[in-house]
Amino acid sequence: MSTLWKSRYAQRTLGVKSSAIRELLKVTQRPEIISFGGGLPAPDVFPVERFEQACHKVLADHGAMALQYGTTEGYQPLREMIAENMARYGIVASADNVLITSGSQQALDLIGKLLINRGDRILVEAPTYLGALQAFNVYGAQYVSVPVDNDGLISDRVDESLRSGPKFMYVLPNFQNPSGVTLSEGRRHQLILLADKYGIPIVEDDPYGQLRYEGEHIAPLVVLDRENLQRDNGFTLGNVIYLSTFSKTLAPGSRLAWMVAPEDVIAKLVQLKQAADLHTSTFNQYVAYEVARDGFLDQHVRLIRRVYRERRDAMLESLKDFFPQEVTWTHPQGGLFLWVTLPDGTDSEALFHSALAENVAFVAGDCFYANNGHEGSRHMRLNFSHSRPELIREGIRRLSLAVKRQIHGSHLPSTVGD
Ligand SMILES: Cc1ncc(COP(=O)(O)O)c(C=O)c1O
Repeated sequence: MSTLWKSRYAQRTLGVKSSAIRELLKVTQRPEIISFGGGLPAPDVFPVERFEQACHKVLADHGAMALQYGTTEGYQPLREMIAENMARYGIVASADNVLITSGSQQALDLIGKLLINRGDRILVEAPTYLGALQAFNVYGAQYVSVPVDNDGLISDRVDESLRSGPKFMYVLPNFQNPSGVTLSEGRRHQLILLADKYGIPIVEDDPYGQLRYEGEHIAPLVVLDRENLQRDNGFTLGNVIYLSTFSKTLAPGSRLAWMVAPEDVIAKLVQLKQAADLHTSTFNQYVAYEVARDGFLDQHVRLIRRVYRERRDAMLESLKDFFPQEVTWTHPQGGLFLWVTLPDGTDSEALFHSALAENVAFVAGDCFYANNGHEGSRHMRLNFSHSRPELIREGIRRLSLAVKRQIHGSHLPSTVGD
């Protein structure tokens, strides 16, 4: 039976693999494992009560509308609220520039559908968000990778890569997934000028921008692009499509996110989204609007910042206390992740298995690189948002045992059960 189906799978499915992280989440559900693997928000700060009240209110006040089909563009009051909230970050957009999507993951898929012909090259960061590679791979994308350092994408290296004519650039300026680094202001300006010079648009993916724990806010690329274009021709939105999501500020289970683009691009995206799912869940949109309104979202984001900052600090401190000095890591100013660099010759895949034996998990670096090599074998991504500080400390202690065994040889004993 399955051979019959297999022989009929479309070509576009051939290069598609399961996400290493989704697979890993299955293993790490075991209760004895402390997982730094998934990019999971802290379940203990989900605003469950507020959701409960909002569900009741939505059903009482707008039951029939909330359970009905809706427009593809999204629930108008929610689009307006998003536009207003973004204005505080300098993003000038009306509700007509906002398309509600079923998670930013759907936005990435729609971008693939909209822009990628088989064989098109996309400029991506190395490392970059695995889920974007998965989404773009379905459309036959090829990649030009440009490395990141502590100031984000190395913009001096972008110029040369743009000469090869990529279709667009996919950039994560704030607290990048997986590395946690932030694109500096200077480099943001440089990138916008390069995009303009070569006529190559940018997809700016910003799920974490509001989750800053230290340092000053830096203007998003979509804002700098507008400033740059206005000098020339008065356009409001131009070379940048901007993505963000409620997954990290409210709840990922709602599957609610949004795209910001010029109106004609939104119109095309609407047609593509219609083909995919008609529209994002009406009920979820009504509920999210009800949850977020009257300043609750701001208040909740302040709480999340406090909790995640404490967890980030717990991880940084534990790394300093337990990890050998040959190992380095990033110091993220926000977001959910930090990125560990192990000494030359380390194999983070092998390390993953010996870490599991210590009942601790992380994501090995290779899957975050577009070109299927072993560039990531010295790296691991650690999530700090999900576990409480005392578990983070215990997890890093366990992980340090596996790390020391990798670096210094296998004579150090495992301590599980001690
Ligand atoms: C950079 C980036 N983009 C997109 C997503 C997908 O988010 P959503 O839950 O809105 O689909 C994530 C999720 O972790 C992410 O890190």
